[in-house]
Amino acid sequence: MSKNSSVKFILSFMRKNGGNTFIFLAYWISVFFVASQNFFFNYYVAKGLQTSVDGMMQKDFSSFLGGFILVLRSFGILIIVMGIFSYINDYVVKKITSIIKEYFFKKVLRLKPFFDEKYTSGKIMTLYNSDIEKVESIYSNQILNLLMAIVGALGGAVIIFKLNKYIFIYIITIGIFNLILNYIFIKKMKVNSRNIQNTISKQTEHISNFLSGSYIIKAFNNENFFIKIFKNTTKKYFDFSKKRAKYDAGISFVNNASEYFEFAGLLIISGFFSLKGAISIGSVLLCVQLGRPIIDLFKALSSYFSNIQSILASTERISNILNLNDEEINEKEFFENNTKNFQETPYAIEFDNVSFSYNKDKYIFKDLSFKVKSGSKTLLVGNSGIGKSTILKILLKYHTNYSGNIFVFGKSLKDYDVHELRKLFSYVPQNSFLFNDSIFENIHYGNINKSSDEIIKVSKKVRSHEFIEKLPNKYETTLTNNGNTLSGGQKQRLAIARALLKDAPIFIFDEPTSSLNEKLKDKINSVIKNTMQNKTFFLISHEFNSEDYDEVITLDFNKVKI
Ligand SMILES: Nc1ncnc2c1ncn2[C@@H]1O[C@H](COP(=O)(O)OP(=O)(O)OP(=O)(O)O)[C@@H](O)[C@H]1O
Ligand SMILES: [Mg+2]
Repeated sequence: MSKNSSVKFILSFMRKNGGNTFIFLAYWISVFFVASQNFFFNYYVAKGLQTSVDGMMQKDFSSFLGGFILVLRSFGILIIVMGIFSYINDYVVKKITSIIKEYFFKKVLRLKPFFDEKYTSGKIMTLYNSDIEKVESIYSNQILNLLMAIVGALGGAVIIFKLNKYIFIYIITIGIFNLILNYIFIKKMKVNSRNIQNTISKQTEHISNFLSGSYIIKAFNNENFFIKIFKNTTKKYFDFSKKRAKYDAGISFVNNASEYFEFAGLLIISGFFSLKGAISIGSVLLCVQLGRPIIDLFKALSSYFSNIQSILASTERISNILNLNDEEINEKEFFENNTKNFQETPYAIEFDNVSFSYNKDKYIFKDLSFKVKSGSKTLLVGNSGIGKSTILKILLKYHTNYSGNIFVFGKSLKDYDVHELRKLFSYVPQNSFLFNDSIFENIHYGNINKSSDEIIKVSKKVRSHEFIEKLPNKYETTLTNNGNTLSGGQKQRLAIARALLKDAPIFIFDEPTSSLNEKLKDKINSVIKNTMQNKTFFLISHEFNSEDYDEVITLDFNKVKI
């Protein structure tokens, strides 16, 4: 997505994806009012000063007083009106930004699991933490500041132009000079700000990586090595930031110096015209007061370009994520879990000449065909790395770029909506994941419509109730870091409980009991078997008793080069 279209896309959130015409209008009306406040305040101060000072010079007391009254009265009205519009603007900006954040979160959830390398969790976190903030600033600052500068400058320009063309030309010349100076710096800052952003993203990625693997780092005494890696990125960050500081100081020096000359020049020129009698002394003050916003616009334009560069880069990154393809989800309501219907179809799963590869250099399997009878207990075996877990991931449509045909209950996988399809499976992945949440919720995620009694029931089935009850907060015990306060076997049992709670027509379990001892394994296997009456059970396991199964599918093929 190009930068321009990404800005359009971000601005479209006012009207679409949660926004509406009311928000759109409220934003633009309030932004316009808030943006014009500086001009109005300035204008009335200038007008008041002009009237009062000229009144003073002409010893006209009522005009002298009139200037003050003008300022007081207009300030009173402005303070109230602007207060209301500032509130509306703030409110709408917060609303729009929460719409964008929600949309971002929903989008991340709707992407296929296992994003490509471009979107590691560290990168997504940086996008969420820092890029979204910049995108928000389009609404909260950028548009407003630019409009404010434009309104202030235009208003001032019209008034000064009418008053004296030479003063007007002087101000514009100084403004353009400022713009050119600032632009020279800003061009250099563009590359610099991209580099800073990239190093921040790298740092977040490192921290997230180190945190998840800290126990491995410690086990291998690799702390110093990882500190060195992190130091490299902080050094890069520091180097880029040093450059940034130089540019910032340069810009600030140029702006401060030119401000001094501008002010002095403005005073001299308007003073000159006042001495010649072309304008009044009050008008000199008016020129000084209203001339500044014009020069400020030119300055703002260049810093606006600088900000906008890094904001555009963020906008582009965010828009690219927000525009990634969703999994195919129809929002239609799916049919109910009616196991009876399913059992009438002879095969729950059929692979018909299926070929699949992850990265286009070699097939994981080629022309693979097998059938799993409805209601049967089928075991899938094969050497490590042969593609067993991959088969389950394809069945769940985590990967869709296979060739050949796959049917679930007689219907092609391609014709299933992902929700409709996943409703049919109770899945225990090989490495299950536990959320940073209570044990109760971790099981509950299996089927959020089930009651707490049912959660306790499945926990008892998988022999977990006992150990959960011994924990200080029982079912309310919060798990952290993928349940690292539990044993491997306890974690597996919670994963099985979660899948049993879902109670879908097909159970696909990927080595669900590999961490359990023999006794527990037997117990849980018999529980699984009892629970599986009328269900299709498709299990991957290295240790098994083939007599317990209706069918055993053995994968045995060499990977074929494409
Ligand atoms: N996301 C992925 N991208 C690229 N290659 C992958 C990906 N996931 C798995 N693979 C590769 O695909 C092959 C099959 O992996 P899979 O996990 O299906 O094996 P498996 O039969 O389940 O092995 P195990 O018994 O060890 O669990 C492996 O060579 C693995 O390296
Ligand atoms: Mg596996």
